[in-house]
Amino acid sequence: MCGIVGYIGHREAYPIVIKGLKRLEYRGYDSAGIVLYDGKDLKLSKTKGKVSDLEEKSSKEISTNGTIGMGHTRWATHGVPNDVNSHPHLSNSGNLAIIHNGIIENYEPLKKELINRGYTFKSDTDTEVLVNLIEDVQKKDNLKLGKAVQIALNQVIGAYAICVFDKQKPDEIVVARLGSPLAIGIGKDEFFIASDATPFIEYTSNAIYLEDEEMAIVRLHKPLKIRKIKDDSLVDPYIQELQMNLEQIEKGGYDHFMMKEIYEQPNVIKDTYRGRLHANEGLIRMAGIEDNIDKFTNAKRIVIIACGTSWHAGLVAEYIFEEFARIPVEVEYASEFRYRNPIINKDDVIIAISQSGETADTLAAIKLAKENGAFVFGVCNVVGSSISRETHAGAYTHAGPEIGVASTKAFTTQITVLTMIALRLAKAKGTLSNSDFHRYLQELEIIPEKVAEALKTNDKAKEIAAVFKDATNFLYLGRGYNFPVALEGALKLKEISYIHAEGYPAAEMKHGPIALIDEQMPVVVIAPKQGHYDKVVSNIQEIKSRSGKIIAIVTKGDTQVRDLADYVIEIPDAADAMSPLLTTIPLQLLSYHIAVMRECNVDQPRNLAKSVTVE
Ligand code: AGP
Ligand code: GLU
Repeated sequence: MCGIVGYIGHREAYPIVIKGLKRLEYRGYDSAGIVLYDGKDLKLSKTKGKVSDLEEKSSKEISTNGTIGMGHTRWATHGVPNDVNSHPHLSNSGNLAIIHNGIIENYEPLKKELINRGYTFKSDTDTEVLVNLIEDVQKKDNLKLGKAVQIALNQVIGAYAICVFDKQKPDEIVVARLGSPLAIGIGKDEFFIASDATPFIEYTSNAIYLEDEEMAIVRLHKPLKIRKIKDDSLVDPYIQELQMNLEQIEKGGYDHFMMKEIYEQPNVIKDTYRGRLHANEGLIRMAGIEDNIDKFTNAKRIVIIACGTSWHAGLVAEYIFEEFARIPVEVEYASEFRYRNPIINKDDVIIAISQSGETADTLAAIKLAKENGAFVFGVCNVVGSSISRETHAGAYTHAGPEIGVASTKAFTTQITVLTMIALRLAKAKGTLSNSDFHRYLQELEIIPEKVAEALKTNDKAKEIAAVFKDATNFLYLGRGYNFPVALEGALKLKEISYIHAEGYPAAEMKHGPIALIDEQMPVVVIAPKQGHYDKVVSNIQEIKSRSGKIIAIVTKGDTQVRDLADYVIEIPDAADAMSPLLTTIPLQLLSYHIAVMRECNVDQPRNLAKSVTVE
């Protein structure tokens, strides 16, 4: 995720772009930059840090006049956050400028080819490769910018929302989109371009949202023409009259960031496996794993350290790694690990999981593991975060900024990364048959569609929330892969609705907690068809015989649990190992609606911080 803003018109571009970037900072905020055209030349200023840092630097560094401008607030995917990796990026000639939201998956082979043709690169980003590819295409056939962009994009694999400007033809900005949002605000003799409408909503409420694989040449005093990137065919522009206010647009029309992030999960799971999962070729390719594959395959054990929701993702990983790769796994709370003088062997592999990459306990545990000679691999969501820099290697989730304090998309993208690692190790160790390996790759590839299907249980979750919003206690039960999901479901409810909730392995009921069951106790039972189903049904019967109120998460078409439970939420069928990515969805929705009905502060729950950087 990141924020892009472009302007071409009769006003001074600088204030429009800077203010627009500030409104888009929720989309990414590790670095920012701006480029202006004043009728003579391009003026570029960019910096690590916030848009306010850019404002301070650019106002000193460049003259800020000019009626054409583009700006970017970054959420890095390739190249740590620093000045030189910030956008905009210029082509080698200095004529072209680009800003980009997304990921160019095949940037490495493209970069090698461009280097062979004499191009040089200042940054480590995939974006700088794209702007030089466009320049290379333009120069080769002396093409106009629009055509060069179109041809270049047909060579690119990945996701993008881009604005490209050529100072040799300074009356237009070329835009294109695939997988990342791009809105065009249409004013009187002026155009605005942005990741969403917040940067231009006060100037115009007329907007066009490009669809995937569409591009446009935004030219002053000319009607906007939209074309298909693939075949140049014209598309009728659909101009929308925007009704949303600033805050609604920032939240994507949802009432809270948490709900927006719950609904982003199909896309961000896809972004997380993009360029890494190649199901048709039967390949998983993750640089951090490939470079250290021997450490993993020779590991006597894997120790996972994390906190909170990330710790729950680690528990899911324990089941996945042990089933697929047959490597013993231990999952530790980082806060406990760091203080109990743990036994750490040199052939241990430590995996540290952290959305923020700044959690103090996890960071301290990593340092302890490194002091004892262990290899530490990080799974983080923030490029350049402390944990990502402290670990020996790692793999990023590409969930984009998670603003809601309650972690949702971070959890499912962490599991996505960990599943890919486990599958890659299973392939290397030969602990999965080829057919099973391919089957799981295909299963993982279609998970985003199944998550989108699971999100359709929202109304059902809301209906159940209304029944139980005043409960004082909840129990969450699951078996196998879904035991960690039971813990995560309980945490979600606790942290945003302030209702006490506990997660348990379903079989543990008879070892004490069943004493809690009565008609006041709602019990959420995760009972997908593919995971110890019959055993879970028995647990449900135990609860029912004690008048517990049962909310069951079942596989679509289930009839047996339907006859036993008080409430049922159906999700698509999936392999047991993939089921946490689906069973967690209704639990997120249930918690969200209960919290809203209890008028809790869903995005910033009391007592909580998004990143626990203190002990
Ligand atoms: C999850 O909903 C919580 N906000 C919290 O438990 C969080 O998962 C934990 O603090 C770990 O944070 P991290 O993933 O950024 O390290
Ligand atoms: N992949 C590009 C980069 O890392 C763009 C990331 C973004 O969308 O902010 O610079």
